[in-house]
Amino acid sequence: MTATSEPLEQEQDPKNDAPTTPVIRFLRGPHLLGQVAVNPEQTIVEHAEACGVELPTSCTSGTCGTCTVSVVFGEVALPDELPPGLEAWLAEEGGRLGCMSKPHVDVDIDIMPPI
Ligand code: FES
Repeated sequence: MTATSEPLEQEQDPKNDAPTTPVIRFLRGPHLLGQVAVNPEQTIVEHAEACGVELPTSCTSGTCGTCTVSVVFGEVALPDELPPGLEAWLAEEGGRLGCMSKPHVDVDIDIMPPI
């Protein structure tokens, strides 16, 4: 799986071409579960909670991998050193730890890990 597929349709104001606030969208497969404006200070899990989407968590410190989700559009930066809860092959497939990762741009997140 790559992180380069097309984003979901986003409403545009035809009278205003100014850049819009980045949005994080939560999906399960093709189904949109919720979306909320990106706050670069918040983790993916915090964004999910803000729009009523429940993500599983356990350690909330990057150790267990319970919160692994898939970035299916956009980019969520990885730390220089991968935390113990995220294996390199999962990261290459778009996997990110929801308890630690903070989006800064438009992203679509599948709540399932990239398996
Ligand atoms: S909840 Fe354990 S790594 Fe995120």
